[in-house]
Amino acid sequence: MELRRRYTTADLGVFTPEEASRFLPPGGGDPQNDVILAWELLYRLEPELYDRLASAERLHPGIVSWLPCGVGRIAEVGAGTGRLTMELIGRGQHVVAVEPAGPMRLILERKLAAADHGHRARVVHGFFDQLPLPDDSADLVVACSAFTPAAGHGGETGLAEMERVCRPGGCVAVLWPNHLGWLVARGYRHVSFPGPMSAQFGSYADAVELAEVFFPRAAGEVRRLGRRLVPFEVLGINPPRDLAFKVLAG
Ligand SMILES: C[S@@+](CC[C@H](N)C(=O)[O-])C[C@H]1O[C@@H](n2cnc3c(N)ncnc32)[C@H](O)[C@@H]1O
Repeated sequence: MELRRRYTTADLGVFTPEEASRFLPPGGGDPQNDVILAWELLYRLEPELYDRLASAERLHPGIVSWLPCGVGRIAEVGAGTGRLTMELIGRGQHVVAVEPAGPMRLILERKLAAADHGHRARVVHGFFDQLPLPDDSADLVVACSAFTPAAGHGGETGLAEMERVCRPGGCVAVLWPNHLGWLVARGYRHVSFPGPMSAQFGSYADAVELAEVFFPRAAGEVRRLGRRLVPFEVLGINPPRDLAFKVLAG
């Protein structure tokens, strides 16, 4: 069933009070009329389904290569199930991954342990607007497909928090941003990596199943194409090829 129809108000009880205060509008909220709320429920109720989608939507290799390498401390916010975290491990001596949704943290911890990276990464609970990290404690602070200008998902306070945690001369980077202009207006520079990009589903069956949930309008075309690689244009979303960054004054 498609994401917009998947959950009901009966599912809202999964939110902790601090999640509810950020994600629910005054008076409640209905995930069938608010897809952002539906995504938040997905992270808590079906995190493995999200992880299958994120595994298919691989970042442009240029994004990962662009990130600074050989740095000491990296902080990632909204780490989810680790699409970016697993790449960051090789680029810094220590990574702290901040993620509010407990079920997503469990998957990320499992992946880090399986890759024997547990000692180089710490997964912690936290939100953009109140990062549980000291001032100037990271050389790189990064978020991937997580930060938005909305207060519950970052906003002015969240951006200020990312910059507080980043040391002078360090870099704050927002990968796959949804509102580039908002970041550019705040002094961030845009980088985009060219070339055709496709979502890489595990199989054709996987492509069809995930399209029915996340890209229902494209599901017919995905079925007609009959393969596991599906161009992002077919899915109707921007490919993960952009980033916005700011190097803080030293
Ligand atoms: C689309 S997922 C991206 C996850 C991961 N970065 C990736 O690239 O797959 C968005 C993530 O942001 C997290 N998130 C949502 N609101 C947040 C907030 N206020 N503070 C920190 N993280 C948040 C969600 O729990 C979720 O893991």
